[in-house]
Amino acid sequence: MRNLVTHIGTLHQVEASPSGECRRGPAMALVPSLKDAWLLVEDGIISGYGKMDQVPGSLSATRDWDARGGDVIPCWCDSHTHLVYAGSREGEFMERVRGMSYEQIAQAGGGILSSVKSLKQASEEMLLEASLPRLEEIAGQGTGAVEIKSGYGLSLDGELKMLRVIRKLKERSAITIRSTLLAAHALPESFRNNREGYLGMILGELIPRVADEGLADYIDVFCERGFFTVGEAETLMEAGWRHGLRPKIHANQLSRSGAIQAGVKWNALTVDHAEHLGAEELESLRSGQTIVTLLPASALFLGLSYGDQARRLIGASVPLAIASDFNPGSAPGGNMNLVLSLACIQLGMTTPEAVNGATLNGAIAMGLGSTHGTICPGKTASFIITKQIPSLDFLPYSLGRHLLEKVVISGHF
Ligand code: NIG
Ligand code: FE
Repeated sequence: MRNLVTHIGTLHQVEASPSGECRRGPAMALVPSLKDAWLLVEDGIISGYGKMDQVPGSLSATRDWDARGGDVIPCWCDSHTHLVYAGSREGEFMERVRGMSYEQIAQAGGGILSSVKSLKQASEEMLLEASLPRLEEIAGQGTGAVEIKSGYGLSLDGELKMLRVIRKLKERSAITIRSTLLAAHALPESFRNNREGYLGMILGELIPRVADEGLADYIDVFCERGFFTVGEAETLMEAGWRHGLRPKIHANQLSRSGAIQAGVKWNALTVDHAEHLGAEELESLRSGQTIVTLLPASALFLGLSYGDQARRLIGASVPLAIASDFNPGSAPGGNMNLVLSLACIQLGMTTPEAVNGATLNGAIAMGLGSTHGTICPGKTASFIITKQIPSLDFLPYSLGRHLLEKVVISGHF
C-alpha cells in the first residue's frame, strides 16, 4: 500500500538517514525542514520525500492525501507516562488547591497509594477498558509513540497485571509503546514497616519474572525523600541491568536527592523531572550520556517551578527531552501540544528546542531513535498533518489548541 501526501506547506524535522543521536546544545535550535513538499509512505514506512515541483510522476496503486498547505511534523514521542491507572484523584486535587502539598497528601496515605487501592479493585479487563480511551485520546492529539510505566500495583500480582495491560495495549494500538517496571514507586501499605521485605520481593521475584516474560523494556524508581533512597535506587538499577532492563528513573522532583548523580553513575537512559538541579547535578550530567526528561505539565499541576533548568542543560549540551508525565496525581492529561507550549512558557525553550525535545530526543529517550522522531526514509510513518499555520511557532503559541488536521500513526491514514 502506497500513500502520497501532497501539497505540504512545510515538512519539518526531515532527516536523510537516521542518526539516532539526540540534538543537544546549539543543535537543539535546528529543525531541518523543506517547503512545498510531498511525503511518500509505503506499507507503514516513510519511503521518501521531496519538493512539490519534483513530485514523483507515476506511482502505481498510490492513494493521495492532499495536505492543502498544512505542515507535517513527526508524531510526538511521549517518553514518560503512567497512563494505565484505575479511578481518579480530583478530590486530592482540591485538597492541594486548598493548600496541602503533594508530599503531605502522600504521607497521609493518599496520592499514589490511593491509585493503588483503585487498581487493586480493577480486573485486568477493567484496567484495559479504562486505559485504552486514554491511549486513543493522546493518539488523536498527535502522540505516535509512548512509554507507559507500572507503579500502581505495588505487589507481585498488581505490577504484573499492569504490565500485562500495557502488553495488551501494544497489541491493540497503532501507537508504538515501550513499557517500564516502576514497582519502586511508593512503599505499599502491607510493607509499611518492612522496606527490606518489599525490596526483596522486587529483586527476588518481580524483576526476574518480568524479565522472563519480556513484560518490560526499562526499570524505574521514584528516588525521592519519603519514597526510595539513592542506595535503594542503585540496588534496583543494578538488578535491572542484570536482567536487561535499563534504568529510566524519577529524579529530583521534590528535592536534590542525589538521584541524578546515581542515574548517571548507572548509565540510566534518562533521569526524569529534575525540578531541582544544582551545579553538582549539572557537572555529573555533563560527564555522562544520560538524557534529562523535563515534565513541565506535572510541575505546573503541582505548582512547582522549574526556573532556568532547560537553559542550563542546553547550555551544558546535556541531551534533553520533554514529556507529559500523564498520570492521575500530578498530570491528569497527556496533551503534548500543551506540553510544547509549557516547555516554551515555563522552561524558556524556543519552538525548535521544544520540538526536538518532543520528537527526536523523546524517541531516543525510549529507545526508538531508529524508528521514530524524524521524517526519515525507513522510519515508521507516524506524523501529524496540521491545519494551515503561519509558522512552527504558531503551535506552542496556540496553548494546546487542536491544530491537527490528521494524525497518521504507523501508516494508518
Ligand atoms: O511522575 N513522581 C512520581 N510519580 C508521578 C506521580 C504519580 C502519582 O501521583 O500518581 C510523577 O509525578
Ligand atoms: Fe512520572
